[in-house]
Amino acid sequence: MKVRTPGRYPFELRLLHWLLALLLPAQVMLGFAAEHWTPRVISDALFPFHFKLGVLILCLMILRLGLRLRLPVTADDSDAPRWHRRIRPCVHALIYLLVLALPISGHVIWVWMGADRTLIGGLQLPAFFVPSDDDETGRALAWYVHVYGAWTLSALVSLHVAAAVFRQWRRKDGYIARRMGFGRVRSA
Ligand code: HEM
Ligand code: HEM
Repeated sequence: MKVRTPGRYPFELRLLHWLLALLLPAQVMLGFAAEHWTPRVISDALFPFHFKLGVLILCLMILRLGLRLRLPVTADDSDAPRWHRRIRPCVHALIYLLVLALPISGHVIWVWMGADRTLIGGLQLPAFFVPSDDDETGRALAWYVHVYGAWTLSALVSLHVAAAVFRQWRRKDGYIARRMGFGRVRSA
């Protein structure tokens, strides 16, 4: 039987959730390839794509955060254990925070590298600050946030996906589609 799904996230948030779920792993792989791929000419060619996709992700994430704060989202875990109800919003908030911090720290490294900030056409992203050759601390801090942030985000997202799949498998209630899917959900 197919049933309606009143507990679903609003359409805009579901759309952005799945769009970012596609773009983020692509961006992590692009960043890793750009940093480590040999020969160097290939990795150098990948960096401008990493920069542009990062700026797109930042814009989509700001939009998502704005909508998340405005649109109503009903909770769906009243029967979950207390520790689970506490930990879940923390993991979600950390994911939001990291997806905002990564493009910002990436931008700081980018400006320090003196790299080209052209987005499309002749449109240039402003630097927002003047890098100083003496300030190794700011540059190192941005690097730590970016590199360790990317791997922390990957770990948190893996945890998030595993938890969603496990919950659906255990309850057999179409949880993922019911909360984040499109169309009607098949119910047992
Ligand atoms: C890069 C990949 C992903 C990221 C960054 C991500 C991030 C998030 C975030 C931040 C939320 C909280 C939404 C909010 O409160 O605004 C969320 C909710 C959710 N995500 Fe993901 N997600 C990803 C991939 C996935 C995948 C692959 C699945 C399914 C296997 C999934 C299933 C869900 C579900 C079911 C919810 C609703 C949780 C609830 O009941 O409140 N997500 N996701
Ligand atoms: C959500 C967005 C982003 C994600 C997930 C991401 C992810 C990554 C990853 C996984 C790496 C490789 C880390 C390693 O060496 O192990 C990397 C490196 C790098 N990313 Fe990003 N990145 C993002 C946005 C950006 C943006 C917007 C820029 C530029 C404006 C940027 C500039 C860089 C640079 C310059 C490096 C090389 C850092 C180094 O010197 O080692 N990133 N990124």
